[in-house]
Amino acid sequence: MIRTILGIESSCDDTAAAVVRQTPDGTTILSSVVHGQGALHAAFGGVVPEIAARAHAEKVDVCVEQALLQAHVALRDCDAIAVTAGPGLIGGVLSGVMCAKGLAAATGLPLIGVNHLAGHALTPVLTDGVAFPYLMLLVSGGHCQFLIVHDADRFQRIGGTIDDAPGEAFDKTARLLGLPQPGGPAVEQAAAHGDPKRFALPRPLLDRADCDMSFSGLKTALLRARDGAMGPDQTLTQADQADLAAGFQAAMTDVLRIKTARALDLYLALDPAAPVLAVAGGVAANAPIRTALAGLCEERGVRFTAPPLALCTDNAAMIAHAAFHRLARGDVDDMTLSARPRWPL
Ligand code: KG4
Ligand code: ZN
Repeated sequence: MIRTILGIESSCDDTAAAVVRQTPDGTTILSSVVHGQGALHAAFGGVVPEIAARAHAEKVDVCVEQALLQAHVALRDCDAIAVTAGPGLIGGVLSGVMCAKGLAAATGLPLIGVNHLAGHALTPVLTDGVAFPYLMLLVSGGHCQFLIVHDADRFQRIGGTIDDAPGEAFDKTARLLGLPQPGGPAVEQAAAHGDPKRFALPRPLLDRADCDMSFSGLKTALLRARDGAMGPDQTLTQADQADLAAGFQAAMTDVLRIKTARALDLYLALDPAAPVLAVAGGVAANAPIRTALAGLCEERGVRFTAPPLALCTDNAAMIAHAAFHRLARGDVDDMTLSARPRWPL
């Protein structure tokens, strides 16, 4: 059976559309278009929901048109329309859902509302053919959780952040140190020249034997360390900036590595035939964090995998991909599909 799904994503600051095809030989991304809004939000130091919603509403049709064109697929030749129905910034999610409903109403194609987190969590199946059950660490600007993915629609959350997401902490750190946004790459770059031991920053919640994490205290500690390091003219030297960035990144890496080791304990107790740890989300691009997690997996005899960066960060191919099992069993939505700002897996 050959099936083709048009996917739409607009839950944060990327407007995206993609066409994905499934055949008995496998799943292929025919096109994946992403319009980032970084430039629109840059001056504000973070995503402004109203600006994001307007930009999604303006760009979503264009993305769909480009995705179909690039895939050489006509809308009427698709088998379903999949759209992120949450969780996310409600104005953006609504833009995508309204667009998808319009297209479904005009063509009579089935409509499938997808959970954005399921899209991320199932990406290793799309990119690496990973078999269930696998352990997923989702670390992005908005999310941080450990999931045991038992099946395409059975996700067991075994821990996560109780406050900030790691990407958010990287972005706030960059702001505190006067580095540009997005903060992750800027902090990683600055940290490469720094001494991670000069500032003793906390590793929160390591005294708890669970897989939960907290990063807001780390940010506050960094603020204090920065203020202590500042000269009388309230400026930081480049060396201070590098040492603070390195100290922060080392603390973040330690917390993620140690909590991942605990999550692996829970996962390996299931005795999976071919154990896998998959990471996804923008923070998975961080080289020291990746190296630490890959090293841990090697010690534990677990395969480590990370999707290519373009599929780690927000995209619509993961949304289309996450809809195939629903389409196969006829589990589709109708015009009452609503946008959900919160939607735990
Ligand atoms: O997954 P993503 O593109 O968007 C969502 O949050 O859904 O993740 C973006 C986050 C930003 O906070 C960014 O600073 C962070 O990922 N990030 C990084 C790196 N590249 C991006 N964090 C640490 N190191 C990096 N190299
Ligand atoms: Zn995301």
